This record gives sequence, structure tokens and C-alpha cells, in this order.
Amino acid sequence: MRDNNYHSVKPLLDNKRPQVYIETYGCQMNVNDSEVVLSILQKAGYSLCPNIEDANLILVNTCSIRDNAEQRILGRLDVFRLEKKKRTNVKVGILGCMAERLKDELLSNPAVDIVAGPDSYRDLPRLIASLSSGEKQINTILSQEETYADISPVRMDQNGVSAYISIMRGCNNVCSYCVVPYVRGAERSRDPKSIIHEAKELFKNGYKEINLLGQNVDSYLWVDPSNPTKKVNFAQLLELVALISPKMRVRFSTSHPKDMGNGVLYTMAMYPNICNHIHLPVQSGSNAMLEKMNRKYTREGYLERVAKIHEILPDCSITTDVIAGFCSETDRDHQDTISLFKEVRFDNAFMFQYSERPNTKAARKFKDDIPPEVKTARLNEIIALQNAISLENNQKTIGQKYEVLIEGASKRSDEELMGRIPQNKACVFPAKGHKAGEYVTVRINSCTSATLIGEIIEEEHKSLLDKIL
Ligand code: 5AD
Ligand code: SF4
Repeated sequence: MRDNNYHSVKPLLDNKRPQVYIETYGCQMNVNDSEVVLSILQKAGYSLCPNIEDANLILVNTCSIRDNAEQRILGRLDVFRLEKKKRTNVKVGILGCMAERLKDELLSNPAVDIVAGPDSYRDLPRLIASLSSGEKQINTILSQEETYADISPVRMDQNGVSAYISIMRGCNNVCSYCVVPYVRGAERSRDPKSIIHEAKELFKNGYKEINLLGQNVDSYLWVDPSNPTKKVNFAQLLELVALISPKMRVRFSTSHPKDMGNGVLYTMAMYPNICNHIHLPVQSGSNAMLEKMNRKYTREGYLERVAKIHEILPDCSITTDVIAGFCSETDRDHQDTISLFKEVRFDNAFMFQYSERPNTKAARKFKDDIPPEVKTARLNEIIALQNAISLENNQKTIGQKYEVLIEGASKRSDEELMGRIPQNKACVFPAKGHKAGEYVTVRINSCTSATLIGEIIEEEHKSLLDKIL
């Protein structure tokens, strides 16, 4: 089934081959897609180029989720245009969500030679070769089947410890504010055998943490095409991945409150290597807004899911996404979000102002009527509250010991390492001769709202997993 060699999990750097430079914006799924693209291009003879100046091919994997993401990327096109003026032998390809959304509009930009949507990466070698005709090239056909299951992503992150695996593509939810279903197409689940194979190979190559990715992992459902009675759901997939090795951590993202069943929570409770962290985007604390957003759950339903998480997984952390200033949001609606944040006390949150996306249901049906300054004020209130809660939650870890998987040097100093506790909080501590990929036990001594600060307990640094085994 697999046609790529796993010795190529690390990118090939070879300056005798044509050089491709890849820039990635947006979500983890996009990071993983860029790894798929590199795999396809390495097979087609390219080698990864770390700097733009030496590249023959510049690829930008783009994001459309909010207008400011798109504006930032459009600004980069000016830089690429200058690069093309300096050298004649460089081509520029726009990939991903903006490619899908803007299609010919992007192709007509003088900086752009290729436009390729998220389902057309296998076609990239042909698109590149066809440039010799002198014509720009575009493929934005969305697929019902493409999951890139047989392609081994080439990992560009270099940390060699934690890797993403996409388990599904697309989204069927149609939240009214969201552009994703339009740019990534219908939901499809990837063959579990190819997922397990990829995870096993990563473990063999020294990786210690797998992040299973999907827009809505709880609706993962693989039906065997040759025997439709054979099915694998997300809880079962999670278990299969956890069973590969107790020394490999498993994480996943993103869960949807309307679909996250207790089965997943019980599976998490059964396997210590499935990390106790759930990213459960709430988007709003107001039932009126949730209805308008087409989220298909209520505030009460969401709180019930949170209660169930705490009941089955008492030390599980919960993080969220929220949107401030959605169409017609009243001060009362906003206060509902504030009160929900106070009630749930999330460990962390990604917080955004509403940004109208053309052609979404919200753009067609509702007025984007909250003044920008009101959106900003509401967002700032949520951010200030969440920062205080994150700090208070982190302070509760002081004096506690956690298993940490070391990811590498901390940003501040080479003498300090950075890793994560199972609850996904980042932790920094003096290296004491340890290195990336090791499990250590760390006692937390202090913290900020974003980071735990601790020290390795030498006499106890044996991994919790080692103790269990
Ligand atoms: N405006 C603002 N935020 C958005 N998100 C998705 N669409 C929009 C939009 N139009 C946020 C949601 C989602 C996260 C990935 O991005 O909170 O969960
Ligand atoms: Fe990811 Fe959504 Fe941005 Fe596409 S639009 S890159 S799916 S966040």
C-alpha cells in the first residue's frame, strides 16, 4: 500500500536537485499537508530548500479562516514578485485554502504561476512540468475520496519527537461563520490501516508523540469498502493507535461538542499514554449565538459534556476556541460567553473576533453588524479573563510532579529544555544533561499564564510509563 520510503521522514537536502521552499500558514492540518506536498515533490526530484533566495520553486500553503490571515499572505505575494524580478528561474505556487477560495483571482496575480487546492497535491508534479508551455497552471478540483493515505509525509519540523497524522479531511458541519467546508470539501475518513502503519513507522523512527488531526475527529468513521459491515469509529481508532506502544503519547484535535461521546472518554481513561487534554471549541456561551452559528448544541449541552469529562477524566485539561462579535451578538450574549468562561475555567483558549467570510451561510444570511471597536472590546474582555484563569489554573500545578516529554531547547536558553505535561501545558526546566525525546519527571516550582517552570527530579525521573511496565 505504501509507496514511499520511511527513511525519508526527514527532508532531503541536496543542492544538486531543483530546490523547493515551502511556507505554511494556518492550522496543524496545513502543516501536515505541507509535509505531504514535500513527500510528493521529493519523489518528483525536488529537495527542500530552507531559504527562499536559493529556491527554484516557492510554495505557499495558505489559510482562509479569517480575513487577516488572507491579507498577511497576500502581502507576501509582493515579496515573491520581487524575488521573481531578481531571478528568472523561480516559480511560485499557491496551495491550500486560499487557492481553493480565490482560484482564478490568484492565478491572475503576476507573482503566481500555479494555484493548487487542498485535494490536488498529487497533481503538482504535472502542474509544475506543464509550466514549460508558458501557461500558468491551476487545479482546484475537490475530491470525495482523497485522503493521501498512501503518502508518507516528510516531517519538516525537525524536533523528531512529535508528529501530526491526518485521519480525515474536509468537514460536513457547515457552521455558518466558517469557510472550511467550502475550501476543504466534504468529510472523508482515512483507512485506519494506513494510519496505524504511519504511526508505527514514526515510532520506529524515534517519534514519541502522535497528534491525530481532523476538523471533527469525533465523526471519524471508516467503512471498509469491500465489506460495509466492517467499521472503525474514532474511539476504536484511538485505542488502536494507543496500543502501538505505551511509550508513545497520543493526542488528538479537534473535538466537536455535539459529537464527542463518552466512548472516547472511556478509551482515554483506559490508556495512560492517551494524553488527558481535550480541545473542545465552544465558540459562544449564548444559545442564541450557538443557534445562529449552526453549532447544533446548547450552552447546557456543552456544560454537560464538560461535566462528563471531569467525571471520567478528573485530571483532564480542556481548551477551547471562541468568537467575539458574531452577527447581532448583544451585550447579554457576550456576558453569556463571559459567564461560561468563568464556569468552565478553560486551561487555555484561542480567541478571535468574528471575521465575515464571503459566501458562507452567515455572510449570505446575516449582517456583520457589530462595530469593530465593540468586537475588539469584547474580545479583550474575554482575553483578560482567560489570561487570569490560565494563570490561576497553572498556579494549581505548583508543587506537583508531572511526566514531561522533552521536545527540545527552550526558546530562551540552550541550557533549558521545553516539553509538555500530558495536559498539554508547556513546561521549561534546566536540562541537566537530558535531551529531546526523553520522558522525565518534573516538579513545578512557578509559572506564568502560558508556561510552567520546574526542575527535573533526578532520583525520580523514571517515566511513569516505565513504572507501570
Ligand atoms: N471568524 C472568526 N473566527 C473564526 N473561526 C472560524 N471561522 C471564523 C470566522 N469567520 C475560528 C473558530 C474555529 C477556529 C479554528 O477559528 O473559533 O474554531
Ligand atoms: Fe486550516 Fe481552516 Fe485555515 Fe484551511 S482555512 S488552513 S482548514 S484553519
